[in-house]
Amino acid sequence: MTAWRLFEDRDKLAAGVAAALAETVRARLAETERAALALAGGSTPGPAYDRLACLDLPWARVTVTLTDERWVEPTSALANAGLLRRRLLTGPAAAARLESLKGFAATLEAAAREAEARLAPLLPFAAVLLGMGEDGHIASLFPRAPELSQGLDPDGERLCLPVPLARLEPFVPRLTLTLAALTATRALLLLITGDAKRALVEQALSGDSHALPVAAVLRQTRVPVTILWSP
Ligand code: 6PG
Repeated sequence: MTAWRLFEDRDKLAAGVAAALAETVRARLAETERAALALAGGSTPGPAYDRLACLDLPWARVTVTLTDERWVEPTSALANAGLLRRRLLTGPAAAARLESLKGFAATLEAAAREAEARLAPLLPFAAVLLGMGEDGHIASLFPRAPELSQGLDPDGERLCLPVPLARLEPFVPRLTLTLAALTATRALLLLITGDAKRALVEQALSGDSHALPVAAVLRQTRVPVTILWSP
């Protein structure tokens, strides 16, 4: 249940991702009053968010949330919510509602529980946009992390988990959506660039790399995955 969409450059990729997300929002809004998107942080999706912000959508009916968040102040340059504020929620798109994962809870576990209560009414998402690290992590589900088996349980009851120790920079604690939440969606998009990430996804698809978190996304059968790639 995977399909590749290959783009010749990063500009075309950004436009393709934005168009795909907009299409899922329109389709969801044809069925129901509000549509929700769960969007990745990291450095790859920024240009797609710039493009999406310019598209004509009934933004006041859209909620955006995150696939994962770093345990930093909302004003920190590292905050994924800040990325959405700067790159997506501008102009007419500022009418969308941002549902942060990090609220005001004092501990990671309490914050994860609180986020779950706010996420549950948003499901199913219109779309989930995932990035992937060069170690095969998705959201903040890192290879060999102690919370990985719970996070990748397709039938798990948790929607959001605390991640006390990130395995890559920035080394700050995180909150992450689980596979159960990431697949509670009408569309699941995996956005990657470069030959190394493409080779890693191909390896995961060939069944060689069960230990990679991305393999769990590619193997699940709840929702088809579209992989969007450019060099
Ligand atoms: C984050 C993420 C994370 C990201 C990958 C890829 O907050 O770091 O949401 O899962 O998608 O690390 O990041 P890059 O796009 O920067 O390679």
